[in-house]
Amino acid sequence: MCGIFGVITTKSDAPSQVFSGLSDIEYRGYDSWGIASFIGNSFQVVKNIGFLPKKLTLPKANLSIGHTRWATHGGVTVANAHPHLDCTKKLTIVHNGIVENYQDLQKKLKGHTFVSETDTEVIIHLIEERMKTEKSLLRAVAVTFRSLKGLNAIVVSDGKSIVVAKKGSPLVVGKSKDGFLVASDPNALLPYTKELLFLEDETILEMNEGLSTYGVLDLKPFKPSFQTVDWDYSASTLKNYPHFMLKEMYEQPQVLRNVLQNLDGIKDLAKVVKKAYGTYLIGCGTASYACLLGVYLFSAIAKKHVNYSIGSEFDYIEDYLTDKSLLIAVSQSGETIDVIEPVTHAKVKKTTIVALTNTLGSTLYRMADIKLLLQAGPEKAVASTKAYIAMQANILLLSFAVAGRLEEGARIVEKSAKEVESVLKKIPQIKKLANRISAADHMYILGRGLSFPIALESALKIKETSYIHAEGFAGGELKHGALALITTGTPVIVYVPNDETKEAVLANATEVKARGAFVIGVSFQNNSAFDYFFEVKDTGASSVIPHVVFAQLLGYQLSLKRKINPDKPRNLAKSVVVK
Ligand code: AGP
Repeated sequence: MCGIFGVITTKSDAPSQVFSGLSDIEYRGYDSWGIASFIGNSFQVVKNIGFLPKKLTLPKANLSIGHTRWATHGGVTVANAHPHLDCTKKLTIVHNGIVENYQDLQKKLKGHTFVSETDTEVIIHLIEERMKTEKSLLRAVAVTFRSLKGLNAIVVSDGKSIVVAKKGSPLVVGKSKDGFLVASDPNALLPYTKELLFLEDETILEMNEGLSTYGVLDLKPFKPSFQTVDWDYSASTLKNYPHFMLKEMYEQPQVLRNVLQNLDGIKDLAKVVKKAYGTYLIGCGTASYACLLGVYLFSAIAKKHVNYSIGSEFDYIEDYLTDKSLLIAVSQSGETIDVIEPVTHAKVKKTTIVALTNTLGSTLYRMADIKLLLQAGPEKAVASTKAYIAMQANILLLSFAVAGRLEEGARIVEKSAKEVESVLKKIPQIKKLANRISAADHMYILGRGLSFPIALESALKIKETSYIHAEGFAGGELKHGALALITTGTPVIVYVPNDETKEAVLANATEVKARGAFVIGVSFQNNSAFDYFFEVKDTGASSVIPHVVFAQLLGYQLSLKRKINPDKPRNLAKSVVVK
């Protein structure tokens, strides 16, 4: 979703820093962009629709703010792209979030000229108005920010300072040797500094030659607590890969081994799960399928019932939460609004919150009572691969830890890491399969038991990378409706692991084959029901890990064949921070 990058520096390269910062946060998804730089006595703005150019000649300036926009209020037009200016062109703003009451606020503004359809432009004219009565930019921004309804992060400048205020949307400040930076993603700050300040909600700060931080409601000053991170910037760059998605899939064996280095955190969490009166797993999209897998794993391994919900539905069914419940919120970004909102409500009920996230310092991380990092490293492709694998591994290990069999769990995760390596070696085989099925309009994926969530996740991966309509079904549901969709040549992927589901899912494979489907069997052994066989060695309950890697690679190859950039699927953003 929208990205922010701002710089105030003693050097004159602020605009080029902003340009390269915006390039680093491109992965979040956007449809237009813009950069405002303070030159002489006013702001000069360059903006456009579409993606950032590879190169851009920018003026020299000490202060610059930029934005990548994902349209919400108003279409994708140059006028709607941020930064926006006030009437005098001496104030500028970039904004993430939605101002729910912007129409009411706009009605109160008299004599201002609006050039866009955005809620953001209303904010900058409100600040312009406030500057007439308040003594400083900081106060004018604070008063205005308090009048905004909704979850918003704003970065405002008058050319002398940058003022930042936030509630809900993520923002991180960096302190470099030449000045200060602000961004929506900490990784984008790493080329300049490793000293980072993760901003809490309801804070406002001013950056000029120094940095001052305050509560936005009362303007009470507080001491900022910067953290020095040891992250490697190159981990979030493409290196020699053509796409982040491919790079991230190749990193998966190492990610699994990283997870195995953190068994203490898993053991500690297992103790908490054992004591809880009800454990609930929530997440969105891919993370929700990891949560659903948790229900099956906890039942099969730990003989324990845990509940699951997609994040956006949890608020409607969470009346049973108490101060003795445990809510495990699973999120790569730690910023997904449909996870943050139910967590906020659960906190009111004093439910213990666990963050299973990839992002240190994220909103979810900061809100949680117990924090377990996914250990996947920065993930930039919109289609989640290595973070999902890390979710699977952590949840699998947790179920083994609750059963008191963590070592056994660790052994099969290690085995699955080796099997992921073998699957990655079979890319040419998957490429051939992709060529064979790339013209399909529909595709179905069947699994039972542990493989049912894998079928759902595989379908999502194929949808978002190839735009082929793919749907995952529980094998048992076929005769309850889905079988009507099968016609001659319909590709159907069938997961056949060496477990209790084998016979029944093979029967499903035979049923779809009898209706003309092209059956793609993903299994430890071939079967006459398969038209195409992809072998994945049996690693027990962890077979779900290499199985899903097959679907990730197939999605990737389908995207290439269909001339789609797998890293930037249309209409999707990496981090969904607005409802
Ligand atoms: C993953 O492939 C998807 N793009 C998407 O479903 C994603 O998993 C979802 O938006 C949740 O994101 P999170 O893990 O950052 O919360």
